Amino acid sequence: MPNTVLMGAQWGDEGKGKVIDVLTAQADVVVRYQGGSNAGHTVVAEGRKYVLHLIPSGILHEGKQCVIGNGVVMDPFDLMTEIGMLRGHGIDPDGRLFISDRTHMVMAWHRALDKADEARRAESKKIGTTGRGIGPAYGAKMGRTGFRVGDLLDPRFPGRVREETALANETLAAWGAPLLDVDATVADYRSVAEALRPYVADTVLFVNEADRAGKRILLEGAQGTMLDIDFGTYPFVTSSNPTAGGACTGSGLSPRRIGRVVGVIKCYTTRVGAGPFPTELHDATGELLRQKGGEFGATTGRPRRCGWFDAVIGRYAAMVNGVDFWAMTKLDVLDEMPVIKICTAYRRDDGVVYETFPSDLAALERCEPVYEEMPGWMEPTSHITRYEDLPEKARAYVERLVALIGGRLGILSVGPARETTLLVELGI
Ligand code: IMP
Repeated sequence: MPNTVLMGAQWGDEGKGKVIDVLTAQADVVVRYQGGSNAGHTVVAEGRKYVLHLIPSGILHEGKQCVIGNGVVMDPFDLMTEIGMLRGHGIDPDGRLFISDRTHMVMAWHRALDKADEARRAESKKIGTTGRGIGPAYGAKMGRTGFRVGDLLDPRFPGRVREETALANETLAAWGAPLLDVDATVADYRSVAEALRPYVADTVLFVNEADRAGKRILLEGAQGTMLDIDFGTYPFVTSSNPTAGGACTGSGLSPRRIGRVVGVIKCYTTRVGAGPFPTELHDATGELLRQKGGEFGATTGRPRRCGWFDAVIGRYAAMVNGVDFWAMTKLDVLDEMPVIKICTAYRRDDGVVYETFPSDLAALERCEPVYEEMPGWMEPTSHITRYEDLPEKARAYVERLVALIGGRLGILSVGPARETTLLVELGI
C-alpha cells in the first residue's frame, strides 16, 4: 500500500470509519491529521462497539501504531476518557499511541466559549457547532495564544492557564454565560499533564522515520471537504482543513511522500448543523433516507439533514483533493427507492449554470439543482459480496456517479458490517 490519505468528500459522516477499518489492515502507522472531538467514529470489532473521537480506530488492530498529528486540536480530558475506555476493554495503547508535542489542546475555556458563542448568536447566524471547543482552539492556534501538548511540561504552564481562564471569564461574563472556576481549572490541567506524558512524542520525526523505514502510512481526515475552512461553505464550516492538503500540514509528511488519495463519498448527501445544502429534501424521501441510513450524529445525536447525491460537490471534491479512488458508501440505503435523482449542476435564477461549487453563498441561494433521474433497483443489496452480483440498475447508478465526478471506484459499501464492503478496483 502506498502512503494513503483518506478524506471525506461531502459534509462529513460519509462512513469514513468503516473504510479506515478496511485500509488499516494494510497500514503500519495510522495518523489522524485534523479536527478534534467533534468527530465520532463508531467501530464494531469482535462484537464490541467502540466510539472514538480522537484516537485512530487503528488502535483496535493489534500491532498498528497510531498518531495524533500536529494538525489536530486535542482535548486532553477527552483523550484520557478514550484511553480509559480502551483499557477497560483490555486494549493497552501504551507504546502504540503517540501524540505530537506540536498538537494544540482544546482548553476548558475553548469549550465554554464555543457553547456561549453559539447560544448568544441570532438563529440565522448559528453555525450549529458540536460544542467541542473546536473553533476557539484553532482560533487560539492561529492567534498564537494556543496551548500545545509540549507546553504541559513547561513550568510556566499553570500560570498561563490561570491567566487565560481569567481572560475567558471576562468574555463569558459579557455574554452572560457561566464562569469557569480558575483554581479548579489549573488543578485539572496539572493532573492531566502527568497522565499524558508517556504518549507525547516528536511525531513529525516519528512519521518520517517510519516512512523512511518503508512502513505504510494511512493519514485519516475527519469531517469532509465541504466543511473545510478554505474550501467549504464558509462560514458554515469547521475550523480546519479536512481536505487532502491538510494531511501534510497536519502530520509533517511531505506531499511528495503521498502515493494515493481515497475519497469517501456517500451515495446520497447529508449534513448536520447549519448552512447551505442544495439537494436537501424536506419530504418523506428525506425522512426515509434518515431512518434507513441511521442518519443521526455520532457525537451529538442530532438528526442529519438528508438529500440526493450532488455530483457538483463530488466533482469539486475530486478536484480539490486529487481523488484517485472513491470509496462509495451506503448504497443499500437506496434499495427501496423507485426513482433516484442525481444533481448534475446548479442553475441560477438568471440562467447561469454551475458545474463546480461556487464560493459565493449568496449566488448559491439563487440556485436550483439540475436533476437527472435513474430507476431504482428495488431489491436488497446488503447480502451481496461481489460487485458483479449487484442488480444491473444498482451498478448503473454507481457507474453514473463515477462518470459524473471523475476518478475510479475503489470500494463500495452496502452495509455496516465489514463483510459488506465490495473491493472493486483497489485490489486490496
Ligand atoms: P465544529 O467543528 O464543532 O466547530 O462545527 C462546525 C460545523 O461542522 C457544524 O456544522 C458541525 O455540525 C459540523 N461538524 C463538525 N464535525 C463534524 C463531523 O464529524 N461530522 C459532521 N459534521 C461535523
